Amino acid sequence: MELITKAPKGTVDLVPGGQEAGKASSENWRLVEDVFRGEAELNGFGEIRTPVFEHTELFLRGVGDTTDVVEKQMYTFEDKGGRSITLRPEGTAGAVRAMLETGLYNAGYPVKLYYIDTCYRYEKPQAGRVRELHQFGVEMFGAAEPVADAQVIAMGLSALHRLGLADAGLQLNSIGCPGCRAEYRKALTEYFAAYRDQLCETCLSRLDRNPMRILDCKSPECQEIAKGAPKITDYLCEDCQAHFDKVQEYLTALGIEYELDPRLVRGLDYYTRTVFEFPSKSLGFALGGGGRYDGLVEELGGKPTPGLGFGMGLDRILMALEAQETAFPEPERCEVYIASMGEKALEKALVLINTLHECGISADCDLCARGLKAQMKYADRIGAKFTIVIGDDELESGKAELKNMKTGEKKKISLDDAFTDDYLTACTSQEDLTF
Ligand code: HAM
Repeated sequence: MELITKAPKGTVDLVPGGQEAGKASSENWRLVEDVFRGEAELNGFGEIRTPVFEHTELFLRGVGDTTDVVEKQMYTFEDKGGRSITLRPEGTAGAVRAMLETGLYNAGYPVKLYYIDTCYRYEKPQAGRVRELHQFGVEMFGAAEPVADAQVIAMGLSALHRLGLADAGLQLNSIGCPGCRAEYRKALTEYFAAYRDQLCETCLSRLDRNPMRILDCKSPECQEIAKGAPKITDYLCEDCQAHFDKVQEYLTALGIEYELDPRLVRGLDYYTRTVFEFPSKSLGFALGGGGRYDGLVEELGGKPTPGLGFGMGLDRILMALEAQETAFPEPERCEVYIASMGEKALEKALVLINTLHECGISADCDLCARGLKAQMKYADRIGAKFTIVIGDDELESGKAELKNMKTGEKKKISLDDAFTDDYLTACTSQEDLTF
């Protein structure tokens, strides 16, 4: 029975009114998503929606086959046509694929895209780590200049600050280009080879294939060894160094504080040059992260095109907001509830709430054959600001009382042609309401 009544491990249900019930509240999530959407649109990003599953090959090529994400975490299965399909573990590879397939780049560069997606990673669920994760992401294509790096970072931070996450920081690094990384790779392989018998099994297999991944290993032993490893920033070529210097200059001009972290390599293989994360200082994990990926579009079959972006973990951001006891506004569910006594009155209430809906006013009536007392209790539960009661007398006179549930004030309004006008006049004349 548990398989039916319990959601799979590492997933959450977002429910309306969740805040009051101590559950994840879809209203709070939507408020957070709206802040990110707003920030993206302020910066000229348009929304892209891509499929939740893609051909597995896309992630093998895009994310990299020596990453934890590909090696350990993908939800991969064969569909009924024998194709290998994977639930997207992240949004960038799919956005690149869609940009190329739909020819979005034909409209000119930069192409600026954002998405709010679920991603799937088979990870050990724990605080801040889920299997169905929610990401807000942005991707920008065709902008090679360091000013683009600074602007993308600035917009991420700005959204976090707009949400009131004052403790969100910025960690910054450059991991260079394939040119400077060749030298670095040699130095890393040499360094880690000396610890061959102390590395975990996965890192041992990475030693020859992709030693940079060892820097990102979660095992405490490997992390300890990695502390003494050569730093990529000592190997940057002239162009990569100049790019990195300029990014920092722009961030300083924007008044953005950052911490340089030469060990920050990120968990995905596509990055080049600038990489960054937004850590939550109090929670101790990254709320988001991203960077530049100038080789990815070509790797996935397009013309050489620079790209950059970031992904914000909404699950973690909601957690951080809750941890700092952010006061979310009470969700508004109903402005006016029209209670009724008798079948004819119910019919009138039904017609009137639909008239109000046409004017964009949220209104509700009895859908459960409740008595008047129970209807009023319900109106209270859904937080109706106003109520109207319709019975035989009201039907006969064509008038009813609109009651302000907070102040108790009552106003007579027409139930006939003038209903909506009367309703609006009665509401707007009351001081505590704004429209
Ligand atoms: P990522 O660092 O793998 O980057 O994920 C971005 C954010 O998603 C993380 O900082 C974290 O907040 C959240 N996240 C990742 N895994 C989990 C999980 N298992 N549970 C909860 N939250 C999680 C990317 O995905 C890149 N595609 C970002 C990017 C876009 N880079 C360039 N463009």
